[in-house]
Amino acid sequence: MEFSTKLIHEGQEPDAATGAIMPPIYMTSTFAKENPDVSKGYDYTRANNPNFVVLEKVLAAIEFAKYATVFSSGLGALTALICGNLKSGDHIISIDGIYGGTYRLLTQVFNRFGVLFTSINLQNGVANLETLFKQRPQWLLFETPTNPLLEVFDIKALTALSKKYGVLTVIDNTFATPVNQNPLLLGADVVWHSTTKYIAGHSDVIGGVMMTNDETIKKQLDFNRKSIGVNPSPFDAWLITRGVKTLSVRMRKHEENAMAIATHLQKHPKVKKVYYPGLKEHPQHDIVKKQMNGAGGMVSAEFNLSVEETKRLISSFKLFALAESLGGVESLVNYPAIMTHASIPREERMRIGLSDGLVRFSVGIEDAQDLIKDLDSALSNSH
Ligand SMILES: Cc1ncc(COP(=O)(O)O)c(C=O)c1O
Repeated sequence: MEFSTKLIHEGQEPDAATGAIMPPIYMTSTFAKENPDVSKGYDYTRANNPNFVVLEKVLAAIEFAKYATVFSSGLGALTALICGNLKSGDHIISIDGIYGGTYRLLTQVFNRFGVLFTSINLQNGVANLETLFKQRPQWLLFETPTNPLLEVFDIKALTALSKKYGVLTVIDNTFATPVNQNPLLLGADVVWHSTTKYIAGHSDVIGGVMMTNDETIKKQLDFNRKSIGVNPSPFDAWLITRGVKTLSVRMRKHEENAMAIATHLQKHPKVKKVYYPGLKEHPQHDIVKKQMNGAGGMVSAEFNLSVEETKRLISSFKLFALAESLGGVESLVNYPAIMTHASIPREERMRIGLSDGLVRFSVGIEDAQDLIKDLDSALSNSH
């Protein structure tokens, strides 16, 4: 099956009992057994539920993974992977530009359990990374495109280097989505998503997924979903299954609008710099062309505005809602320094190039002319 057909049909046969085209919602905490040794494959929803299985089948198919395990959230998914795969004294190397909540989980929660964390930048090539790899860390964890600077890394090159040193590569593919990038095909060991974002697509649910071709990791993930209790609700899994059906048409429109916004911003006198992987001026545009099928719906911009003026700007949009999160059908605007990335200390934010003037847009699927009008009107009030 081709990609969009998989989104709609993979793992989603009409219901055997009734013929229902949509999978029923198995809103149950527990399952009756015939006798203590015989069940119909399920016993308790913290461990598994038919709605999880339906969603796992379609997500695994579109990410070209053998296995998927769904969770209550993206960070719940990462928690389960760490608990199953790492122990005190193990070391995660990261590349600057990960989501603030991921950074917080690693530096304020798992550090208390002895999991070490180092983040580096790759602006001067991979020499620093290779030096760190010689200390035999366990994981290389990164996002591409990064959040919110939309820097792009060469997945094939980085996974090849990781393999040379026996390091597991764990990639957050939330921004790109399986429509635009498939890290497992490029050598990654584990791929994860906050399904809250583009995969569900309608800003009405929180969820996460981990995907891999490694059976041992799959077993660790299932064991830890049950053991820690980071399972989604069956209804949330059902909502995500519904959302994913339109992923490829939504991504095409997100991208078309994002390109229109990015090129419009480039021409605006109040804009210092635009960050969008689809622009030919993007510093890693050649990698984008090589490893991505599209540049996605996230655009960031640095404005020639003071902090107070930036706050005024982001509060004066009519269509772009001032909100955390991304990837829904509606456009959102975010001020990373005081919102999504506030958990990263200012000094560290400055080091990674996340300035006080940076604004991030999650461009929705409205009509581009309306979004541009909204931008222009907010910018004309921001002084
Ligand atoms: C890129 C990225 N990864 C992971 C997460 C965490 O996902 P969740 O909020 O579903 O726990 C987020 C949340 O904003 C994100 O933006």
